[in-house]
Amino acid sequence: EKGGYDYFMLKEIAEQPAAVADTLLGHFQDGRIVLDEQRISDQDLRDIDKVFIVACGSAYHSGMVAKYAIEHWTRLPCEVEIASEFRYRDPVLDRSTLVVAISQSGETADTLEAVRHAKSQKARVLAVCNTNGSQIPREADAVLYTHAGPEIGVASTKAYLAQITANYLVGLALAQARGTKYPDEVAAEFRQLEKMPEAIQKVVDSLDPVREIARELADSKSVLFLGRHVGYPTALEGALKLKELAYMHAEGFPAGELKHGPIALIEDGLPVFIVMPPVEGRGVLHSKLVSNIQEIRARGARTIVIAEEGDEVVRPLSDYFIPIPASTTLLQPLLATIPYQAFAAEVAAARGYDVDKPRNLAKSVTVE
Ligand code: F6R
Repeated sequence: EKGGYDYFMLKEIAEQPAAVADTLLGHFQDGRIVLDEQRISDQDLRDIDKVFIVACGSAYHSGMVAKYAIEHWTRLPCEVEIASEFRYRDPVLDRSTLVVAISQSGETADTLEAVRHAKSQKARVLAVCNTNGSQIPREADAVLYTHAGPEIGVASTKAYLAQITANYLVGLALAQARGTKYPDEVAAEFRQLEKMPEAIQKVVDSLDPVREIARELADSKSVLFLGRHVGYPTALEGALKLKELAYMHAEGFPAGELKHGPIALIEDGLPVFIVMPPVEGRGVLHSKLVSNIQEIRARGARTIVIAEEGDEVVRPLSDYFIPIPASTTLLQPLLATIPYQAFAAEVAAARGYDVDKPRNLAKSVTVE
């Protein structure tokens, strides 16, 4: 049933091209983005003036990625919040607020309670969910299902990429409703998304060097992950995977914060992962990250850099270089996250841990 893989997680990493392709399937019809369920009128969708994304764990990171796209495409303010924090701080909600609840299981108690709080304040709720008939989509006003299929590994992989994909569709649906993007622009964005499964497949097919790096670094005490823009949530996801599976201390930072404190942690031999912005976004952020890498190396840390295959500026500055295919900035997390999944799985295996069932964790957290 593991299809020849040692762990479900490895099988699920390999299923990511299909998870993304299946999540897109059928959502662009007659030139328009369509949701799965919509119990909210087009007019009400047009009148939305603020978006909150609520979720936990990896789903929360997928929401952080989505924020960049939603604000860019819709010009709506979008906040992302950990579901367990959201309802305890009296957030400003009304009928023109859209709360997007993201959950693989659809049963996460913290996210469900955030949905209930939002509804009690008259906000509209849109669920992004991988499980048909689960509680969160049942209580929502609109639903977009991710089609990752059942995820057995406790650490989320294919559901995470499917969530990012579905979140982008939510952003495009809002942009379409509000008219902040012309129909041909929405169509062009959708076509970009449709190209991603092929690029994801390329990353999946080239993970052996990542596994080798993982075996080399498996005894590290701590690992840092840095990124900027969408590379920041990707850093958080990389750190979470490593904590969950390898029980290794790991932290993700926005690279610009380094000089405000975390640089004090940099010492000889410390592994530091960095995601470089794609060539498309090269400019200020790219050169700032190059400076960060130089600062880190000057202090003796080892740099493991994920960058576009053609990024010749960064290759010589990397102790380990992990190439990924070219993409737009917004879509890069669909590629850059994958080496982090494989890295964490391999470190866990090298340390003799159960990759599919990490200690203390449950697949679905149904208590607050
Ligand atoms: C991380 C992981 C968890 C879940 C979180 C939310 O690998 O699996 O962080 O992402 O518990 O779960 P769902 O998406 O089911 O609400």
